[in-house]
Amino acid sequence: MVRIPEPELMEEPTQVESYAHADFETAHSFLIRKFQDRLPIRFTPESILDLGCGPGDMSSRLYSQFADANFTFLDGSEFMLDLCKKRMDIMVLKKRNQKIEFKKELIQEFVPESPYDLVFSNSLLHHLHDPFEFWGAVQRSIHSDSFIFISDLMRPDSLTIADQLVVRYANDEPEVLKTDFYNSLLAAYRIEEVKEMLEIVRLDTKLNLEPITDRHWICYSKPRL
Ligand SMILES: C[S@@+](CC[C@H](N)C(=O)[O-])C[C@H]1O[C@@H](n2cnc3c(N)ncnc32)[C@H](O)[C@@H]1O
Repeated sequence: MVRIPEPELMEEPTQVESYAHADFETAHSFLIRKFQDRLPIRFTPESILDLGCGPGDMSSRLYSQFADANFTFLDGSEFMLDLCKKRMDIMVLKKRNQKIEFKKELIQEFVPESPYDLVFSNSLLHHLHDPFEFWGAVQRSIHSDSFIFISDLMRPDSLTIADQLVVRYANDEPEVLKTDFYNSLLAAYRIEEVKEMLEIVRLDTKLNLEPITDRHWICYSKPRL
């Protein structure tokens, strides 16, 4: 099935509100467990970048795990970033000298002041019309020991399977969220396409790529030998 792109930024108020209020507990806690399982032992990042943070559900989970780190939460949608900031303001107990930044910026334009120890991104790649802009932003944001963790949806084989996934995982959600999920499945990259991207940008030697559910893949730094 050919890829059908969706708009990059999530800025339409109904879409943003319904995404922000959706119950992602099952999917997000599963992804975070996978992330935790793959982290190097005793990994304590001092700086963390969350690319395409959206309304901050994953961001808050990252903060809970690494509450002493400096964070940059980046999203190109002002509406999304405001929701993320509100959510984080409630939970962040800022330590002295701790830096918590909210950047309203396109990843295409993002040039970090210094590299991050952990670069995290969930459900952003499928929004990008040129996926290499995503990998470029990742590459600009790392140093040789950074840990990278990326997760996203994968495009199913057919529209029928996309329909079935929406029924299976979003049947009780509002119509706008069902449509959003359906469109995201159609816009998602297939795992073979992601594999090819990694080879082209030469991250294939650094990162593992695995399917982990019937609709998600993860990509993360290989253990250093
Ligand atoms: C599906 S949401 C994922 C949000 C969050 N990471 C999560 O897991 O819930 C994708 C987010 O990426 C943002 N986004 C899409 N394209 C972007 C771009 N080119 N630069 C920055 N942010 C972008 C959207 O505005 C949206 O908030």
